[in-house]
Amino acid sequence: MRIREQDFTKLLVRPVVVITTISKNGVPNAAPFSFNSPISFEPPLYGFASSPEHDTWRNVRETGEFVANVVGEDFGELMHILETDFPYEVSEIEKAGLTAMPSACVKPPRIREALAWIECKLEASYELGDHVWVVGRVVCAEVKDEFWDAVLNAERAKPLCHISGEFFACDARRRRFKRAR
Ligand SMILES: Cc1cc2nc3c(=O)[nH]c(=O)nc-3n(C[C@H](O)[C@H](O)[C@H](O)COP(=O)(O)O)c2cc1C
Repeated sequence: MRIREQDFTKLLVRPVVVITTISKNGVPNAAPFSFNSPISFEPPLYGFASSPEHDTWRNVRETGEFVANVVGEDFGELMHILETDFPYEVSEIEKAGLTAMPSACVKPPRIREALAWIECKLEASYELGDHVWVVGRVVCAEVKDEFWDAVLNAERAKPLCHISGEFFACDARRRRFKRAR
C-alpha cells in the first residue's frame, strides 16, 4: 500500500526517551521524544529532533545540557502527562509523580524510575525542516544493573517504543543472529 510521504515515521518503531533539562532558573523540565538516535561511537554522540518551540530545546540552547532517560513500558500511561505543555516553570517530573535525582556529570536531573540514563552536553544543533536536530556529546551513560547483560536485557527492561501518536510497541525480545563461520 502506498501511504503519504509524511506518514513515513509511522513505519519506524523507535525507542522512547524522556529528555530532562533545566531552565536558567534551575526549574527541571521533562518531555518524551521518539525522534532520536545514536550518531557516533568516538566521540560518543547522540541526537534527538525537537520542535523549535519546545521548552526542552529552549533549555538545551540556554544551558547546554540534557539527559536522555531511557524508559520502560511502565511509562506508557504517563506519556500524556509528560507531553502536556505545562507553563514553562512547571516541572513535569512532579506532575507525573516521578522522582528527580542528581545526575553524575550534568545539572539536569535524572528520572529515578527510568531504566538507564544518557547524560549529554550540547555539541551541535541543526535546523532541519520543522525540527531542530540536537546533538549531544555523551559524558556519562548508566543503566540499572538488573537491566544489563552485555547489552540491554530487553526482556527484563521492557523498553517503551513509539510508532505514532497513541500507538506504541511493547514486548521487545532479544534474539541473537550469529554470523555463519
Ligand atoms: C511518545 C512521544 C514521543 C514524542 N516525540 C517527540 C519528538 O521526537 N520530537 C518532538 O519535538 N516532540 C515529540 N513529542 C511531543 C513532546 O513530548 C511534547 O510536545 C512536549 O509537550 C514537549 O515538551 P516541552 O515543551 O516541555 O519540551 C513526543 C510525544 C510523545 C508522547
